[in-house]
Formats: sequence, C-alpha cells, structure tokens
Amino acid sequence: MKPNVAIMGATGAVGAELLELLDERNFPLNSLKLLASARSAGKKIEFKGETLTVEELTHDSFEGIDLVLASAGGSLSKEYAPSAVKAGAIVVDNTSFFRMTEGVPLVVPEVNPEAIKEHKGIIANPNCSTIIMALPLAPLHKAFGIKRCVVSTYQAASGAGAKAMEELKEETEAHLKGEAYENTVINQPYAFNLFPHNSPMLDNGYVEEEMKMVNETKKIFQDPDFKVTATCIRVPIMRAHSESINLEFEKPFTIEEAYELLKNAEGVEVYEDRENNLWATPLMASGKDPVYVGRIRRDLSCENGLELWVVGDQVRKGAALNAIQIAEKLEY
Ligand code: A2P
Repeated sequence: MKPNVAIMGATGAVGAELLELLDERNFPLNSLKLLASARSAGKKIEFKGETLTVEELTHDSFEGIDLVLASAGGSLSKEYAPSAVKAGAIVVDNTSFFRMTEGVPLVVPEVNPEAIKEHKGIIANPNCSTIIMALPLAPLHKAFGIKRCVVSTYQAASGAGAKAMEELKEETEAHLKGEAYENTVINQPYAFNLFPHNSPMLDNGYVEEEMKMVNETKKIFQDPDFKVTATCIRVPIMRAHSESINLEFEKPFTIEEAYELLKNAEGVEVYEDRENNLWATPLMASGKDPVYVGRIRRDLSCENGLELWVVGDQVRKGAALNAIQIAEKLEY
C-alpha cells in the first residue's frame, strides 16, 4: 500500500531536502501533507508539478496519515509524535528526542537495518555526524574490531537549521563589506571563524553533540562498550560535515584490506587523488548521497591504528536521505 505521508517541519532545511528526495527517488506515496508553524501556514510549495499548501501543525494533523517524517525540532517531536502514533502513523523522527529511548530503534539502514522491525510506531534517525561516521566504521568494525575511536568534526551551518545558514551568508556579506553584523541565531561571530559546537555544555566537559556521537554509536552497533571520544567543531561551511577519524583495532590489518572493505561498503565512496593531494571537501560532497572517505593511512603511533578523512552531506545522508531510506524499508 502506498502511504499517506506528512512532513513535520516542511519549511526547514531538512524539510526541503525531504521534499526533494521524495521526488528524486520517486517515493511511492498516495498523498503528501506539509506541516509547519502557524507562521508558514498558507505558504505554497511545488511538489511533482502540484502546488501544495503548508498547514499549521496541530494534534489533529495526522488523521489518515501512515508515515510522518519529522524534522521540526525535539520539543515538537516530543509533543506531536505520540499523537501521530495514536492516529496510526509510523514516525521517522529526525530529532534527538527519542534516539536513546529504549524500544525506539536508532537506524542507519546500511548498518543495522534489522533494528527497523522492532519499532512500536517511532523510529529514530541518528545524529548527522553519527550517521556519517557509522558508514565507514561498520565494515571495519566487523572485520577488525574497533577498540577505540577518536573523532574530530568540522560541522556545517545546516546542522543548526535554515536560519543559521541564512545568517552565515548575511554575516559573510557584511564582513566583506566591512559592516558590523549582529548575530541572532548563532551566539557569536561565525563568518571567517570556527568554534566548539554550540550545543549545551554538559557536566563532564563534553557538549551534547559530542555525547550524541558517543552514545548513539554504542546503540547503533549494539555494543555498550564501544569506545568513542569526540570533539565537535562548527565551521563556516554551508551544508556538509567533515570528520577526522582515528581508529585503533583489536586485530592486525593491512591497508589493502582496509581499502577493500571501504570500497565495498554500502553508501561509502573512496575518494582520493594522492598525486595532486586532492580529497573530498564539503563543497564537492554537498547535494550528494555517498559518504566520501579518503586519507586512508596507517596511524604510525600505535600498533593497529588507522586514520580516515570522511565527508558527508549533513542535510542528505546526515538527515533526510537516511530518513527516506528507513521509510523505504517500512511496510504500510
Ligand atoms: P516554520 O518555517 O514555520 O518556522 P530548521 O531546522 O531548518 O530551522 O526548520 C525547522 C522546521 O520546524 C521549520 O519547518 C519550522 O517551521 C518548523 N517549526 C518550528 N516551530 C514550529 C512549531 N511551533 N510548529 C510547527 N512547526 C514548527
């Protein structure tokens, strides 16, 4: 059966990408409802040659809906996902709210598709940086056993939403004209700058984004002892995240084996031009589906260590594409 689909947060950065992917992948749907705040109600959006009108999200929005793709923020998922489930819909939630809830599968389809069938109405889409990291880690972990993973991220504005992307553009323009600019979305100068991730600071000295990478990876790999430490940095890039990943394995490995595994990994593309020292960048990865991996090299400082450079589109594989891939595996 083709589902009746609703997008919660249809006017946001991820919402726009969800619409594009539903069209591009010819997602088999019966009808499409666009939900956002009262501010956007009445706004017209084109989809497959049809003009759809954005509706205000309410608890009654889900009657007759089979699938909800939610990306309006955690507090709204908290409030509205239960109403959607009560109305009989399956919710694929892009927010962090249900990710660590027991009984809610946290899914990267290339890594743990079997978790999907455990759902009781809600399936969580992992954090963008976590998804991008999980793809290359999965085959390496299976083959050599990851003892420890150290990741540093270089995260784009898109992760902070459409308004942050707009602000980065305006601030950059103002900066180039030598004009003063007052940030309202990001709480400090962003253009020509970088800063540790602007998610809440926790008691253990990590920020929330970093602990999402730590805890969600354990859940996806179904291994509470999976050891990850993360440092997340926001950089003045529009929409793709980059990650420097250091892995230490239980077992010995050869670089050739690592290459072979990464070349054959679903959703991963090895991208390198050693001769010209050219590697994946956020600009080249923007708007693309694969997670690009390069700088594949042995870590000289330990026995079974590997270094990787990983780049993936935050809005696409890091959010909307992963959600649609989950939805494609569901039965309605
Ligand atoms: P709106 O555009 O009407 O504010 P982003 O993460 O890119 O900032 O997008 C957030 C999405 O969540 C937007 O579609 C936004 O709609 C939606 N949203 C924000 N607040 C609400 C709300 N109170 N009710 C419904 N949707 C909301």
